[in-house]
Order: sequence, then C-alpha cells, then structure tokens
Amino acid sequence: MTVRETQTKAKYLYIEDIPGVGPSTARKLRELGFNTIEALAMATVRELEQAGISEKKALEIINAARSSISLSFIRADELLRMRQNILRLTTGSKKLDALLGGGLETQTITEFYGEYGSGKSQIAHQLCVNVQLPPERGGLNGGALYIDTENTFRTERIVQMAKHLGLDPDEVVKNIILAEAYTSDHQMFLLENSDKIIKENNIRLIIIDSLTAHFRSEYLGRESLAERQQKINKHMHKLIRLARAFNAVACVTNQVMASPNVFFGEPIRPIGGHVVAHTSHTRIFLRKAARGPIRIARLVSSPYLPEGEAVFKITENGIEDVEEEERVR
Ligand code: GTP
Ligand code: MG
Repeated sequence: MTVRETQTKAKYLYIEDIPGVGPSTARKLRELGFNTIEALAMATVRELEQAGISEKKALEIINAARSSISLSFIRADELLRMRQNILRLTTGSKKLDALLGGGLETQTITEFYGEYGSGKSQIAHQLCVNVQLPPERGGLNGGALYIDTENTFRTERIVQMAKHLGLDPDEVVKNIILAEAYTSDHQMFLLENSDKIIKENNIRLIIIDSLTAHFRSEYLGRESLAERQQKINKHMHKLIRLARAFNAVACVTNQVMASPNVFFGEPIRPIGGHVVAHTSHTRIFLRKAARGPIRIARLVSSPYLPEGEAVFKITENGIEDVEEEERVR
C-alpha cells in the first residue's frame, strides 16, 4: 500500500475527528505543530504530554491516528512493502545517481557535507526542480520545501535550471515553498509546523540548507554542547518522521571543520558529531577538483551501498555529468 493509498483510506480527515480530541485539545496540538493525522501518527507520547494531555490520552490519540493511516504494528513483510514504496529522486547526474543506488531515496535523510563552494546548495536547488519532473524523468511529480538558514536560495537559479529541463519556470517556482529560518529555534519551529504545508502542497522533497549553521554559531563552548546535540537530534527525528509520513525525500547540507590533532583519518569532518552521523542515513562528502566546475562526491556512509566516488559538474544548466574528454583535460 502506498502512502497515497493509505491517505485516501484514512478513517479520520482532521485531528478533531479523533475520539477524545475536542476543540481545546485540537488547539493545543496545533500549537505544538500537529496539524495533520499523519504528524500525530508519528508523534511520541512525550511530545503530546507537552500539550497538557495525560500519558494515557496521548497514547490513545497516537494509536487512533496510526490506525487511521494503517501504521501500527508492522509485520516484517509489511515493512518490506513499506521499503518497496521507497521512490528515488535524480540529482541530474547519472554518475551521482548511480553512486546513490539510483538517486536520493524517500523516507530517509541524505546529507551532503563539504567546504564552501563545494556545491551543497547547488544540489539543493537542482533537487527542487527535479522533484517536479514525472517519475519517468527521475522526479516525484511533487513540490519542494526549502528551509533556508543562510539566505542562499535564489529564484533566478531555479529559473535557469527549469528552462534547461524544458519546464515552465513560472510553474516550477510556484511549487517551491521557501521558509527562511532566522535562528536555530526558528528553524526547529518551521519544521515542526510544516506538516500541513507539506500535505496541502504535495511536497515530496524537504531541504534544510544548512542543517547546522545556526546551531554552530549559537551554541558556543563545551558547556552548551549537550544541549545543542539534543536539539539537533530532536530536529532530525522530526525530519525523519515527516519523510516517512509523506514518503518524501529529506536532504540536509552540512559544513565541515578542521579536526585538530588528527594524524590519522580525515583532516576535515562534518559538524554535528555523532548525532548527525547516526541520524543521516546516507552521507556524501563533496569536494572541488583543482579548479573549474568539476566536483567529486564520495559516498561516506549508507545502510547498504558500498563506499565510492562520482564526478559531476556545476554549469549554467545546473548539476550535470562530466563528458569523458573533459575529465582527461
Ligand atoms: P557554502 O554554503 O558556502 O558552504 O557552499 P556550498 O557548498 O553550498 O556551495 P554552492 O552550492 O553555493 O556552490 C557554489 C558554486 O557553484 C560556485 O562557486 C560556482 O562554482 C557554482 N555555481 C553557482 N551558481 C552558478 C551558476 O549560475 N552558473 C555556474 N556555471 N556555476 C554556478
Ligand atoms: Mg550553501
């Protein structure tokens, strides 16, 4: 059963339809960002308790929401079926797609990390256009949500990429919802309140560019590290739950820092430590070639794909494969 099918079979349409959710409970749930049955089905008892709801009632609400979208106890064969619902989104480069086993997958988080100018935001822009393509062209026939933390998003760049793919730029731009995050708390708030926007706009791609920049600049020093990590963890878990509930691709970008006193292993590593490492399902390290538009992507971790590298380039058209003759030059 696909996510779409489960949605049409839903018993409850609005959160008020759930037994025991009266107007005041509904209001409190909305304040916490639970606007849809899908989001409630993925909620934890602890989260609902914040609305002043008892543990028992929270469990009842979550179970009702889960039964409504056929998501309670999952048998192994059903889990396999859920895995079969996973769809893939093209990056625009066949080589990069192949490295990822056919493109970015829905229901999981893909992280691109690398130095400034390595192409993280360019890939994010390209994905916003590609997600709108039909499946036969590597898209998901859906829209994109772009949470922008560094004022990076450029509509002009989207227009360029859309034209190259023969899409109507005016339509493409309309299907991208931009959310500017001013602080890390604001960034978390935007994602926590995005379920309704995702549902109403048929969003199939959620981007956070950059995942860590605000956290990094706001939480300085060792004493605030634990709190920072806890918040990033919560943020990423919300992202996973949205990606699962809506069968969407989740893509985050991350900067790198030099690791001091490292004689062995990587001289630079991504921000966010173990929390980001363990919650990103697929991690790709991007680096620039000596000069020019060529970039090298290395698959650093994946649940089932081997490590490897792929070469692509960033041009006026967007993300593209490198021609063989360009490579030897
Ligand atoms: P930070 O966010 O600063 O950490 O970097 P990033 O990894 O997000 O880099 P980004 O994706 O913004 O890549 C910037 C690079 O993409 C530029 O240095 C250019 O090489 C290339 N680029 C960006 N826009 C264009 C464009 O319109 N045409 C071409 N040909 N290249 C572009
Ligand atoms: Mg960037």
